[in-house]
This record gives sequence, C-alpha cells and structure tokens, in this order.
Amino acid sequence: MPVYVVIGASRGIGYQFLKTLSSQDPSNIIIGTARTVDAAQEKVAADGLKNVHIVHGDMDDHASLTAAARKTAEISGGVVDYLIANGAYFAIPCIFDVADDFVGKEDLFLDELKQIMRTNVAGTLFAFNAFMPLILKSSIKRVSAISSAAMLPEYIVGAEDPTSLHYALSKAALNTLVAKFAARYKQEGVRFVSISPGWVDTHADMPKEFMERMSKPFYRWDKTLKGPISPAQSAEMCLKVMDDLREEQSGEFLSQHGNHVWINGK
Ligand SMILES: NC(=O)c1ccc[n+]([C@@H]2O[C@H](COP(=O)([O-])OP(=O)(O)OC[C@H]3O[C@@H](n4cnc5c(N)ncnc54)[C@H](OP(=O)(O)O)[C@@H]3O)[C@@H](O)[C@H]2O)c1
Repeated sequence: MPVYVVIGASRGIGYQFLKTLSSQDPSNIIIGTARTVDAAQEKVAADGLKNVHIVHGDMDDHASLTAAARKTAEISGGVVDYLIANGAYFAIPCIFDVADDFVGKEDLFLDELKQIMRTNVAGTLFAFNAFMPLILKSSIKRVSAISSAAMLPEYIVGAEDPTSLHYALSKAALNTLVAKFAARYKQEGVRFVSISPGWVDTHADMPKEFMERMSKPFYRWDKTLKGPISPAQSAEMCLKVMDDLREEQSGEFLSQHGNHVWINGK
C-alpha cells in the first residue's frame, strides 16, 4: 500500500499522476494537493478515481503545506513513500522576453523573478520540509521535483532559445535545491531526483500561435521531434524514474527516460 503525494495536482501532469497511480494499483493511497480543492475533488469524482484524496495546498503559502502534511498523516497513518513536487508558475507575462528586453522593464523582471522563485523553488523547499517527517517513516523514501530541460545550457545554446528566461532560471535553482536535499538526507537514505517530464501536451487551452512560438526552439534542437507526448505517457515514465532511482543517483537531474536523453533524440 504505497502512499504517494503529488503537490500541485489540479490539472496537467500533476492530475495525470493521480489518474495513473489510481489505475496502476487500487491499493495505492494517493494524496493530491490543490489550491482549489472543490474543483479538483469534482474532477476526481467525475473520473471515478479510487483511493485519491485531495487536500488544500498552495506552494506560495508554507503554512498550507504544513497543514496538508498534517491532513496527509491522518489519511495515511503518518507515512509517505513517494513525494512529487509538480506545481509551477510559468511567468507567462514575459515568457517570450529575452534578457535585453528588460532594459526599461526592470520592475517586471524583478516581480516575475520573485514570483517564480517563490512558487517553483521556495514552494518546493517548503513542501519537502513539510512532508519530510512522513517520508522518513517510509522504507521507500523517494522524493522528486518536476523540473525542465529548458534550464540546460546545452538546450538553451543548442536550440538558440533566449526566451523563457525566468522559467529556466527557476528550474536551474530547483535542480540545485534537489541536490542540496539529497546531500542533507543521504545518511537517512532518502533518494531525491529532479525529473524533466519531456515536452508534454498539457496546454491545449493556450492559443495555437502561442504554442507554436514556444515549441519552435524544440524543433530546432531536436530535428527528429514529432510533437509532445501525452500526460499519461509522461506520468508513467516519471514514476518509473522514481522507482528505478539508484542510491548513487540521488540528487541528479534525469529525463523522463531516466537518463540524459531529454526530448526524443537529444
Ligand atoms: N508540459 C510540459 O511540456 C512541461 C515540460 C517541462 C516541464 N514541465 C513541468 O511539469 C510540471 C507540470 O506542468 P504542466 O504542463 O502540467 O502545467 P499545468 O497544466 O499548467 O499545471 C500546473 C500545475 O501547477 C499548479 N500550481 C501553480 N501554482 C501553484 C501554487 N502556487 N501552488 C500549488 N500548485 C500550483 C497548478 O494549479 P492551479 O490549477 O491551482 O493553477 C497546476 O496544477 C511543472 O513543474 C512544469 O514546469 C512541463
């Protein structure tokens, strides 16, 4: 009866983790945190997901994560085996801006930097801290953060992609945070990993032009790329990466394939 917690599980890959885990084994106990509990609970009920519990949690509010861990302990009997920090802020207001576009827009740069670091980096630290007492009671002890290959210098330079500046900075910091946690909890046997989920088809509601503009560098980087993978494909692969993670890999940044092949052939 492994216990899974997914932070930021209301939609996209996070919600897919709930669906996949629920279908993989009816004995899994799955807790998803959401900022809007009612809407997430309605989705879970409509999809008939068994053993999925939704509790309130906002990565921008550390007290809510502490409360989520308390509620989780009541549901799970005090143990969490797998913790996945998935939620993210994307800094959409300046996602296509490049470094020098911020000349004259310094306040926008700083405001978005503050928000993205707060959610993606500080929010993950708060989530890991809140749930660590429950992880330490597990015999499995796996913790992951969903990161992005967008932070890789080889991608940024190879794809000639100067956009998504804030997002890439936050994911670089997130990977460092995960390595720091791996060092901190090595003696306790907790295995940490940052996982790039691949390019995943989660933003169907965004305008077509936006998605085309965003994905152009992906095709520049990987000439074999056919398009995004489905959330179901990605979630299954990411869960396998956590399961297969060896002790000596703790703190690494891996792709959905469990290695350094980031999209298809790159
Ligand atoms: N899709 C891709 O191609 C791709 C590629 C690389 C990496 N990723 C990473 O994969 C993860 C999931 O992405 P996605 O594509 O599934 O995105 P998404 O569909 O936009 O979902 C984002 C999730 O993050 C949650 N969230 C945002 N701010 C939060 C906060 N302050 N506290 C708690 N939850 C918060 C959202 O909750 P609300 O509903 O409350 O807003 C939502 O559940 C992210 O870490 C992203 O960076 C995605």
